[in-house]
Amino acid sequence: MQKVNWFKLAVHIGALAPLGLTAWDFWRGRLSVNPIQDITLLTGWYALVLLTLSLACTPLNTFLGWRWVLPLRKLFGLYAFLYASLHFLIFVGLDYGFDLALIWLTIVEKRYVLVGFSAFLILLPLAVTSTKGWMRRLGKNWKRLHRWVYLASLLVIVHFVWLVKSDIRRPLAYGAVIALLLMLRLPWVRRMGGKLRSRLKGLFKKGAMASV
Ligand code: HEM
Repeated sequence: MQKVNWFKLAVHIGALAPLGLTAWDFWRGRLSVNPIQDITLLTGWYALVLLTLSLACTPLNTFLGWRWVLPLRKLFGLYAFLYASLHFLIFVGLDYGFDLALIWLTIVEKRYVLVGFSAFLILLPLAVTSTKGWMRRLGKNWKRLHRWVYLASLLVIVHFVWLVKSDIRRPLAYGAVIALLLMLRLPWVRRMGGKLRSRLKGLFKKGAMASV
């Protein structure tokens, strides 16, 4: 029998629970007077949080040696795409009633929608090519293609900054976290991190030896 990956199970539960709760609140009329805006904001926020968690996996392994988070990266990414798709469907379906002319007008007129849409157009092929089959098919190009998630994450922050009316502290806080996670991928930062980690490991070993 296949061993259960409890971390993966926790991600499935953690990612799907908000969907169930939000759907239940929407269904029961327990949201505000503008439930469509509520679920637009909630799905957008869940998508951003999951995208950030997906970007955090590699640095957590590079700097802390947490190999167990690597298999979660794809899961976080796919759930981020699930919420971004729901977010987009709520916009085109519930909000704009699939009126394509009006939707297109809004996309080109409202710059935050245009940037959100651009981020979504990047996440779409990344989600489609997240399978082992596509990894084999694309070979070296697969990694190159999936680096576009960096641009998508920056576009989402611009989307978030441009859509808030006044208080931009929340989008800027997410922007700072995303910027840090991208910086931790720079080759010289990774090298420094690797050196730091092996030095700490060495110190720890010496400390453990001394206490024996
Ligand atoms: C597909 C194209 C997209 C459209 C049309 C769109 C549209 C919107 C709209 C209308 C709002 C609410 C604005 C308001 O009522 O004040 C919003 C908020 C938001 N969207 Fe998008 N969006 C898109 C893509 C994305 C993507 C791909 C992400 C993240 C991966 C995202 C993350 C967010 C966030 C974080 C918020 C603010 C949530 C909050 O204030 O808590 N959006 N978006």
